[in-house]
Amino acid sequence: MSAPVATIDHLGEHAGKTVTLRGWLHHKSSKGKLHFLQLRDGSGFVQCVVFQMTVTPEFFEAVGKLGQESSLILEGEVVADARAPGGYEIQVKGGQVLQQVDGFPITPKEHGPDFLLSQRHLWLRSKRQWALLRIRDAVITALRGFFDQRGFVCMDSPMFTPSACEGTSTLFEVGYFERKAYLTQSGQLYAEASAMAFGKVYCFGPTFRAEKSKTRRHLTEFWMLEPEMAFATLDDVLELAEDMLVHTAREVLARRKVELGILERDLSKLEAIQKPFARITYDQAAAILKEHPESTFKYGDDLGAPDETILSLLHDRPLMITHYPAAVKAFYMKREPGSDKVKCVDVIGPEGVGELIGGSQREDDLELLLHRIREEKLPEEAYQWYLDLRRFGSVPHGGFGLGLERTVAWLAGVEHVREAIPFPRTMYRMEP
Ligand code: 4AD
Ligand code: MG
Repeated sequence: MSAPVATIDHLGEHAGKTVTLRGWLHHKSSKGKLHFLQLRDGSGFVQCVVFQMTVTPEFFEAVGKLGQESSLILEGEVVADARAPGGYEIQVKGGQVLQQVDGFPITPKEHGPDFLLSQRHLWLRSKRQWALLRIRDAVITALRGFFDQRGFVCMDSPMFTPSACEGTSTLFEVGYFERKAYLTQSGQLYAEASAMAFGKVYCFGPTFRAEKSKTRRHLTEFWMLEPEMAFATLDDVLELAEDMLVHTAREVLARRKVELGILERDLSKLEAIQKPFARITYDQAAAILKEHPESTFKYGDDLGAPDETILSLLHDRPLMITHYPAAVKAFYMKREPGSDKVKCVDVIGPEGVGELIGGSQREDDLELLLHRIREEKLPEEAYQWYLDLRRFGSVPHGGFGLGLERTVAWLAGVEHVREAIPFPRTMYRMEP
């Protein structure tokens, strides 16, 4: 085939011309002298019309036999068509079948989630998954762009760690030559060290938690983006989180309209993500929940998922809840002077999606931090390097962690975080 190779996302540049497309058969229907092929090439989906009179009899017959996910190369003219989803269709002039497939396991009929997850390596090819994971890509690009524009330096934290960041109950232990190591729960402690060297940093990578909960919000391996700033207070942390989420929602709207359409996402929900976000304290949240007939919340406890849902449904944008009791939060959070609360924030997403972000100003006083490490019975020796950050030029600082899959699920409007990552890992599934 001699026509230039094009991709479906750039068909507009070839209107009226003949191109070569390379892809897979997503769907086919036939009517008399016509075959209608939905071709997907990774960059998009397009309808290709094969008319018996304009191709060889052999090719027409071969196309008639093609099953879903057959791989093929087509040559045809790009024709503008206002009714077509991408605005173009292809009038096929010829082509070549690379592999004829019969019996692709995922058909347009309904399949259960367990079956689909067992076929994840093939499920990725479906239109909804394609749309969703392209939104994930746009979220990642938006986040990196946001931090880059603001002078943050990407400084990644290690995956193998000798100690816990977020409590010892969800640690994954792995053999490390003659010793034990843990897969990181959060890059924060190292990001704090990086912030003292580079000022404003972020780390972005996989994090691991042996979560025994089988909920739609929990993965055992998920990606977290964690900015950390030297010379920052809780207010700076709140402002950064707010700006970041507004920027990310805007970028996804601008760059992934087609994909949001495939997912039938209500765009007005994303357009509503504007500054300012409501900010309430734990005490204020407790007062709201006390008045709510369905809440079982007890003052002093951490907010549970049902509590977060009740609170989030009162707002059309993310809600920032600050100043939780120190007793329910991590050892490194800075105490509000003369109070049992800490300078922390949980950002709860709208529409009942749950916690998207956890962050805080960090304890920068050596003695107070040491006291908290002892209180939590953490192995003091393992934290000596972390305590050094309070021995050598300690400054107020803070940051947060954004859960990528929860953010993607929220923006894309899908229920379950397991679809928001290419190959999900949960308590019950490590394959494929
Ligand atoms: O609230 P978390 O535990 O905060 C931290 O780990 C801090 N050290 C971050 C920091 O300040 N640098 O986790 C942060 C976010 C949560 O808000 C949630 O979005 C996500 O990570 N997350 C999970 N996402 C999917 N599956 C899980 N099991 C998750 N656990 C936390
Ligand atoms: Mg949290």
